[in-house]
Amino acid sequence: MRKIVITSGKGGVGKTTVVASLGRALSDLGKNVVLVDADVGLNNLDVVMALEHKVVYDIVDVISGRCRVSQALIEDAESGLFILPSSSDNPLMTAQTFRNVIDSLVGFDYVLIDCPAGIENGFHRAVSSAREAIVVTTPAVSAIRDADKVVSLLAGYQMQNVSVIINRVRGDMVSRGEMMSPADIARLLRTEPIGVVPDDELITLYSQVGKVPDYAASDKAFKLIAENIVYGSRKFYEYQKTGLLAKLFRRAR
Ligand SMILES: Nc1ncnc2c1ncn2[C@@H]1O[C@H](COP(=O)(O)OP(=O)(O)OP(=O)(O)O)[C@@H](O)[C@H]1O
Ligand SMILES: [Mg+2]
Repeated sequence: MRKIVITSGKGGVGKTTVVASLGRALSDLGKNVVLVDADVGLNNLDVVMALEHKVVYDIVDVISGRCRVSQALIEDAESGLFILPSSSDNPLMTAQTFRNVIDSLVGFDYVLIDCPAGIENGFHRAVSSAREAIVVTTPAVSAIRDADKVVSLLAGYQMQNVSVIINRVRGDMVSRGEMMSPADIARLLRTEPIGVVPDDELITLYSQVGKVPDYAASDKAFKLIAENIVYGSRKFYEYQKTGLLAKLFRRAR
């Protein structure tokens, strides 16, 4: 079972989006996947997956013995993956009890843990239950700075692997020199890139449905990331291919 925490430091950079979309892509590759919402208090993984109406029990019910972990898991009928919902903060939820719940998720190939923003308690709880970490950042300087802090902090945990996803990349801006390139960002963070995700308005447009259509650029990007994770390949979404005109323009320069 691979236990991967998706973290960032800065809020709003796309952690929950990555957990949901990558989870589906891993599931499409035939893997048994469970997504765990560790964002206590500000939890919204169930909403992003459009499964909030199915929540009966949450992780605190499991920890306090009110239900078994299998009763708290919600299945996404379309993809076949499961989510374990979070709840409001509770003193019973410690790094140790959280880790025990994660370890009890037997039978899954992949556990993706949606980490809260910040580097306090919730971060520690989520990160200490994982063996691998994916740091999400956008090309904004403030996000990169926080990602850098998180990469340093992760050195204090026993991670087998730390990699970075650069989210919300705009090919047109990178080629005009208005946005840092994903390769430069990964170099700056001294962390191996595992994926590049374009800025995709379909993510917002389809947020009510909980899934972007197959033709969405971000969907292709998440498929490549899932393959990189499962097969060890290193294929990245070609963010610079933003249409024929852009190509011709590049060729003409
Ligand atoms: N690649 C993308 N293209 C366009 N919009 C995106 C992309 N990734 C994320 N978003 C949007 O950015 C917003 C924040 O995303 P998300 O909730 O996944 O971030 P988060 O890191 O989980 O935030 P928080 O720290 O609050 O938990 C959402 O409205 C989401 O739809
Ligand atoms: Mg989130």
